[in-house]
Amino acid sequence: MHISYHGHSVVKIETNGKKILIDPFISGNELTDLTASDETPDFIILTHGHNDHVGDTVEIAKRNDALVIAPFELANYMESQGVKAHPMHIGGAYGFDFGKVKFTQAFHGSSFTEENGNVVYTGMPAGVLVMAEGKTVYHAGDTALFSDMKLIGDRHPIDLAFLPIGDNFTMGPEDAAYAAELLQAKTVVPIHFNTFPPIKQDPDKFAASLKEGQGKVMHAGDSIEL
Ligand code: NI
Ligand code: MN
Repeated sequence: MHISYHGHSVVKIETNGKKILIDPFISGNELTDLTASDETPDFIILTHGHNDHVGDTVEIAKRNDALVIAPFELANYMESQGVKAHPMHIGGAYGFDFGKVKFTQAFHGSSFTEENGNVVYTGMPAGVLVMAEGKTVYHAGDTALFSDMKLIGDRHPIDLAFLPIGDNFTMGPEDAAYAAELLQAKTVVPIHFNTFPPIKQDPDKFAASLKEGQGKVMHAGDSIEL
Protein backbone atom coordinates (compact mmCIF):
# COMPACT_ATOMS: atom_id res chain seq x y z
CA MET A 1 0.00 0.00 0.00
CA HIS A 2 1.49 3.30 -1.15
CA ILE A 3 0.26 6.36 0.74
CA SER A 4 1.13 9.97 0.02
CA TYR A 5 0.23 13.31 1.62
CA HIS A 6 -0.49 16.43 -0.41
CA GLY A 7 -1.13 19.32 1.96
CA HIS A 8 -4.16 20.25 4.11
CA SER A 9 -6.21 17.00 4.30
CA VAL A 10 -5.35 15.58 0.88
CA VAL A 11 -4.19 11.95 1.02
CA LYS A 12 -3.64 9.53 -1.82
CA ILE A 13 -3.66 5.74 -1.42
CA GLU A 14 -2.60 3.25 -4.06
CA THR A 15 -3.54 -0.32 -3.27
CA ASN A 16 -4.52 -3.48 -5.16
CA GLY A 17 -4.07 -1.66 -8.46
CA LYS A 18 -6.46 1.19 -7.60
CA LYS A 19 -5.88 4.89 -6.89
CA ILE A 20 -7.90 6.49 -4.11
CA LEU A 21 -7.93 10.21 -3.38
CA ILE A 22 -9.21 11.47 -0.02
CA ASP A 23 -10.55 15.04 0.38
CA PRO A 24 -9.03 16.44 -2.86
CA PHE A 25 -8.89 20.16 -2.07
CA ILE A 26 -6.36 21.12 -4.75
CA SER A 27 -7.46 24.33 -6.51
CA GLY A 28 -6.88 27.18 -4.05
CA ASN A 29 -4.79 25.00 -1.74
CA GLU A 30 -1.46 26.78 -1.50
CA LEU A 31 0.14 23.86 0.35
CA THR A 32 -0.51 21.15 -2.21
CA ASP A 33 1.93 19.82 -4.79
CA LEU A 34 -0.90 18.45 -6.96
CA THR A 35 -2.65 19.85 -10.04
CA ALA A 36 -6.32 18.87 -10.19
CA SER A 37 -6.30 18.30 -13.96
CA ASP A 38 -3.44 15.76 -13.61
CA GLU A 39 -5.25 13.54 -11.11
CA THR A 40 -6.55 10.17 -12.32
CA PRO A 41 -8.11 8.38 -9.31
CA ASP A 42 -10.45 5.42 -9.51
CA PHE A 43 -12.13 6.41 -6.24
CA ILE A 44 -12.55 9.62 -4.25
CA ILE A 45 -13.43 9.42 -0.55
CA LEU A 46 -14.94 12.49 1.12
CA THR A 47 -15.09 12.94 4.89
CA HIS A 48 -17.53 15.88 4.80
CA GLY A 49 -18.95 18.62 2.63
CA HIS A 50 -16.77 21.60 3.51
CA ASN A 51 -15.19 23.17 0.46
CA ASP A 52 -11.65 22.62 1.79
CA HIS A 53 -12.38 18.86 1.58
CA VAL A 54 -14.72 18.44 -1.41
CA GLY A 55 -12.39 20.71 -3.38
CA ASP A 56 -12.04 19.55 -7.00
CA THR A 57 -14.08 16.36 -6.55
CA VAL A 58 -16.72 17.05 -9.22
CA GLU A 59 -14.22 17.89 -11.97
CA ILE A 60 -11.85 15.04 -11.13
CA ALA A 61 -14.61 12.44 -10.71
CA LYS A 62 -16.33 13.36 -13.98
CA ARG A 63 -13.12 13.34 -16.01
CA ASN A 64 -12.03 9.93 -14.65
CA ASP A 65 -15.44 8.34 -14.16
CA ALA A 66 -14.29 7.88 -10.55
CA LEU A 67 -16.67 6.66 -7.85
CA VAL A 68 -17.18 9.12 -4.99
CA ILE A 69 -17.57 7.42 -1.61
CA ALA A 70 -19.15 9.73 0.96
CA PRO A 71 -21.63 9.99 3.83
CA PHE A 72 -25.19 9.59 2.47
CA GLU A 73 -26.31 13.22 2.25
CA LEU A 74 -23.04 14.34 0.71
CA ALA A 75 -23.08 11.40 -1.73
CA ASN A 76 -26.59 12.42 -2.82
CA TYR A 77 -25.44 16.00 -3.33
CA MET A 78 -22.47 14.77 -5.37
CA GLU A 79 -24.83 12.70 -7.55
CA SER A 80 -26.93 15.82 -8.11
CA GLN A 81 -23.75 17.40 -9.51
CA GLY A 82 -23.44 14.62 -12.07
CA VAL A 83 -20.87 12.28 -10.51
CA LYS A 84 -21.19 8.59 -9.61
CA ALA A 85 -21.42 8.16 -5.85
CA HIS A 86 -21.59 5.38 -3.31
CA PRO A 87 -23.42 6.53 -0.17
CA MET A 88 -22.38 5.13 3.20
CA HIS A 89 -22.76 6.24 6.79
CA ILE A 90 -21.09 6.27 10.17
CA GLY A 91 -20.38 2.80 11.52
CA GLY A 92 -20.94 1.15 8.16
CA ALA A 93 -18.27 -0.68 6.18
CA TYR A 94 -18.35 -1.79 2.56
CA GLY A 95 -15.98 -3.88 0.48
CA PHE A 96 -14.82 -2.22 -2.74
CA ASP A 97 -12.51 -3.94 -5.21
CA PHE A 98 -9.42 -2.31 -3.60
CA GLY A 99 -10.40 -3.08 0.01
CA LYS A 100 -12.81 -2.08 2.73
CA VAL A 101 -13.96 1.41 3.70
CA LYS A 102 -15.62 2.20 7.03
CA PHE A 103 -16.88 5.59 8.14
CA THR A 104 -16.38 6.64 11.74
CA GLN A 105 -17.88 9.51 13.69
CA ALA A 106 -16.35 12.97 13.67
CA PHE A 107 -17.41 15.96 15.74
CA HIS A 108 -17.66 18.80 13.26
CA GLY A 109 -20.10 20.29 10.70
CA SER A 110 -20.81 19.44 7.08
CA SER A 111 -22.06 21.83 4.41
CA PHE A 112 -20.98 22.84 0.92
CA THR A 113 -20.99 26.44 -0.25
CA GLU A 114 -21.81 26.68 -3.95
CA GLU A 115 -20.24 29.30 -6.24
CA ASN A 116 -23.31 31.53 -5.94
CA GLY A 117 -23.00 31.50 -2.13
CA ASN A 118 -25.86 29.04 -1.65
CA VAL A 119 -25.12 26.75 1.31
CA VAL A 120 -26.14 23.09 1.01
CA TYR A 121 -26.15 21.07 4.24
CA THR A 122 -24.54 17.69 3.68
CA GLY A 123 -25.46 15.63 6.76
CA MET A 124 -22.98 14.34 9.32
CA PRO A 125 -19.23 14.70 8.96
CA ALA A 126 -17.14 11.54 9.26
CA GLY A 127 -13.71 10.06 9.60
CA VAL A 128 -12.73 7.10 7.46
CA LEU A 129 -10.90 3.81 7.82
CA VAL A 130 -9.39 2.28 4.69
CA MET A 131 -8.46 -1.38 5.10
CA ALA A 132 -6.47 -3.17 2.41
CA GLU A 133 -3.51 -5.54 2.11
CA GLY A 134 -3.89 -6.34 5.82
CA LYS A 135 -3.24 -2.69 6.78
CA THR A 136 -5.53 -0.05 8.23
CA VAL A 137 -5.30 3.68 7.55
CA TYR A 138 -7.43 6.14 9.52
CA HIS A 139 -8.14 9.62 8.14
CA ALA A 140 -9.93 11.49 10.93
CA GLY A 141 -11.40 14.17 8.66
CA ASP A 142 -12.12 17.33 10.63
CA THR A 143 -12.96 16.53 14.21
CA ALA A 144 -12.67 17.39 17.86
CA LEU A 145 -11.04 14.90 20.21
CA PHE A 146 -13.55 12.27 21.35
CA SER A 147 -13.10 9.36 23.73
CA ASP A 148 -14.48 6.79 21.29
CA MET A 149 -11.22 7.11 19.38
CA LYS A 150 -10.17 4.45 21.90
CA LEU A 151 -12.99 2.25 20.56
CA ILE A 152 -11.91 2.83 16.96
CA GLY A 153 -8.33 1.82 17.80
CA ASP A 154 -9.46 -1.21 19.81
CA ARG A 155 -11.73 -2.47 17.02
CA HIS A 156 -9.34 -1.71 14.16
CA PRO A 157 -5.61 -1.72 15.00
CA ILE A 158 -4.40 1.33 13.06
CA ASP A 159 -1.14 1.29 11.13
CA LEU A 160 -1.28 4.91 10.04
CA ALA A 161 -3.48 7.77 11.28
CA PHE A 162 -3.89 11.20 9.72
CA LEU A 163 -5.03 13.59 12.46
CA PRO A 164 -5.95 17.27 12.20
CA ILE A 165 -3.84 19.52 14.45
CA GLY A 166 -4.81 22.99 13.20
CA ASP A 167 -6.99 23.96 16.17
CA ASN A 168 -9.79 26.54 15.74
CA PHE A 169 -11.94 24.28 13.47
CA THR A 170 -10.63 20.92 14.74
CA MET A 171 -8.41 19.40 17.43
CA GLY A 172 -5.32 21.38 18.22
CA PRO A 173 -1.92 19.74 18.79
CA GLU A 174 -2.48 18.89 22.48
CA ASP A 175 -5.83 17.22 21.86
CA ALA A 176 -4.46 15.47 18.76
CA ALA A 177 -1.58 14.08 20.88
CA TYR A 178 -4.16 12.66 23.29
CA ALA A 179 -6.08 11.27 20.27
CA ALA A 180 -2.91 9.51 19.12
CA GLU A 181 -2.72 7.81 22.53
CA LEU A 182 -6.38 6.72 22.43
CA LEU A 183 -6.07 5.40 18.88
CA GLN A 184 -2.81 3.53 19.63
CA ALA A 185 -1.88 4.12 16.01
CA LYS A 186 1.58 2.89 15.00
CA THR A 187 2.29 6.05 13.03
CA VAL A 188 0.54 9.43 13.30
CA VAL A 189 0.78 12.13 10.63
CA PRO A 190 -0.48 15.67 11.33
CA ILE A 191 -2.81 17.27 8.75
CA HIS A 192 -5.11 20.31 8.45
CA PHE A 193 -2.65 22.99 9.56
CA ASN A 194 -0.94 26.10 8.08
CA THR A 195 -3.36 26.31 5.14
CA PHE A 196 -5.16 29.32 6.61
CA PRO A 197 -4.05 31.88 9.24
CA PRO A 198 -6.28 30.55 12.09
CA ILE A 199 -4.81 27.02 11.81
CA LYS A 200 -1.12 27.88 12.00
CA GLN A 201 0.79 25.15 13.88
CA ASP A 202 4.23 23.62 14.24
CA PRO A 203 3.95 19.98 13.03
CA ASP A 204 7.45 19.07 14.26
CA LYS A 205 6.58 20.19 17.77
CA PHE A 206 3.43 18.07 17.57
CA ALA A 207 5.34 15.01 16.35
CA ALA A 208 7.90 15.45 19.13
CA SER A 209 5.09 15.46 21.72
CA LEU A 210 4.00 11.93 20.76
CA LYS A 211 5.48 8.73 22.11
CA GLU A 212 8.90 7.86 20.67
CA GLY A 213 8.71 6.99 16.99
CA GLN A 214 4.95 7.50 16.62
CA GLY A 215 4.85 10.95 15.02
CA LYS A 216 5.81 11.48 11.40
CA VAL A 217 5.65 14.84 9.67
CA MET A 218 4.92 14.46 5.96
CA HIS A 219 5.41 17.33 3.55
CA ALA A 220 3.32 17.68 0.42
CA GLY A 221 4.48 14.93 -1.94
CA ASP A 222 5.98 12.69 0.75
CA SER A 223 4.93 9.07 0.76
CA ILE A 224 4.94 5.99 3.00
CA GLU A 225 4.95 2.32 2.05
CA LEU A 226 2.82 0.15 4.35
NI1 NI B 1 -14.43 21.03 7.80
MN1 MN C 1 -11.49 21.51 6.99
